[in-house]
Amino acid sequence: MKKTILCIGAGYVGGPTMAVMADNCPDYKVIVVDMNEERINAWNSDELPIYEPGLDEVVKRARNRNLFFSTDIIAGIKEASIIFVSVNTPTKTFGAGAGKAADLQFWEKTARDIIEHSKHDKIVVEKSTLPVRTAEAMRRILQSNTKNLNFDIISNPEFMAEGTAVTDLQTPDRVLIGALETVSGQKAMQRIKDIYLHWVPEEKIKTTNLWSSELSKLVSNAMLAQRISSVNSISALCEKTDANILEVSAAMGMDSRIGAKFLRAGIGFGGSCFKKDILNLVYLCEFYGLPEVAAYWEQVVKINEYQATRFVSKILNNMFNSVASKKIAIFGFAFKADTGDTRESPAITVSKMLLEERATLAIHDPEALKNAKLDLADETGDISYHCDPYKAAKGAHAIVVLTDWKQFQGYDYERIFKSMEKPAFIFDGRNILDHKKLFKLGFNVFPLGQREYSHLTEIEK
Ligand code: UDX
Ligand code: ADP
Repeated sequence: MKKTILCIGAGYVGGPTMAVMADNCPDYKVIVVDMNEERINAWNSDELPIYEPGLDEVVKRARNRNLFFSTDIIAGIKEASIIFVSVNTPTKTFGAGAGKAADLQFWEKTARDIIEHSKHDKIVVEKSTLPVRTAEAMRRILQSNTKNLNFDIISNPEFMAEGTAVTDLQTPDRVLIGALETVSGQKAMQRIKDIYLHWVPEEKIKTTNLWSSELSKLVSNAMLAQRISSVNSISALCEKTDANILEVSAAMGMDSRIGAKFLRAGIGFGGSCFKKDILNLVYLCEFYGLPEVAAYWEQVVKINEYQATRFVSKILNNMFNSVASKKIAIFGFAFKADTGDTRESPAITVSKMLLEERATLAIHDPEALKNAKLDLADETGDISYHCDPYKAAKGAHAIVVLTDWKQFQGYDYERIFKSMEKPAFIFDGRNILDHKKLFKLGFNVFPLGQREYSHLTEIEK
């Protein structure tokens, strides 16, 4: 094999990215390391640590051929000439910038590990999403080595989304590579580009300066999240005016300048990136003395929180202002379909609010029950977890749909309706069910941003 690539951090980003890279670059040896032994063992087993459609096949093809998972970080650093870093960069919970700025302690530790164990020059690639100008701090740390070694820093942010990670990685809209405008920086950039050229058409590889690359990643996520908050804010107005958010989104999306994607109203965005990256952007704007710009972006997060709260109020208002002791079946806990990930899932907020109202929760999700249990571990209250939707819904007063899993559309709602308490309610927080059909079955149906279908008379309401 031509060269060894190391990736530090075998999480949602590092694992799938390196698996696809190894699959497409049989002439490179790809080692993925992590300090979490359980995670590495899982990557080496038949049950991968994350659920991602198509990932099993990719890993099976490349593993132990040119893809290796290990906890031996030191050996990996010694061997590789190119090191991708995809360790986590959570929001700081302490000190200056707490609640907004990125916590770079894992990144800094990695940089120090690299200095300590390197014996020759290396290219260090930022894969994690990082605040703009992080590379400068990292370069200073790396160049402080006393071994006279050269480290080139490259920014190569990952744009894949969970649930579609494998296809996003195999056929990306673009690959972004940022480097310093020095001879050494440009050479390093070409070496990273050579890797992607194995499977990505050259016109899709965009090269920029280091800072543009770092900032583009943050802003891409902020713009995507902003579209969701925009459409969610309008869903509230639709409910007051009898407009239908699906029709409004479709009509707007036909304008090629706006585009049709990412206009689905729902209970709000979740996932490990959007909130974290926007808050990070807000912090950067404040830091650089741009309070108006900071306030503009912060509003995207505020609308997201408002949407979840608004949805819970809708549940309460329509269930006679009380859910105490009522069984509520939660359909979907993952932050989106096709993933078991629940990080920042709006389902966490909605479930906690319903528990505060003393509801009994029966949670059903095809992939996320393990994480749901961890997320709600500290909650007091009556919570049960079900692989079987029919058991979750049996005896429930309401079904609350919180994730857009496709299979929810195929359930036997006639059977479900018969097994529920009456009046039976469905609150469709993702607008994925056939509301008219459910109404005909006897349900009182409450979507988001669309008319409700209720059998209750004005007096009963
Ligand atoms: C996102 C970015 O899309 C990706 O480019 C980046 O690398 C990581 O962050 P991810 O968080 O995995 O990816 O999923 P995404 O598909 O973007 O969905 C994020 C959230 O927005 C989910 O909770 C989803 O349900 C919600 N969403 C998305 C909507 O509510 N409406 C939409 O129209 C689209
Ligand atoms: P992401 O979604 O960005 O991939 P994850 O939390 O899923 O984030 O993954 C990050 C991984 O990085 C974790 O598995 C964590 O154990 C690992 N990690 C963090 N710091 C280090 C480090 N210094 N050395 C090795 N692995 C690390």
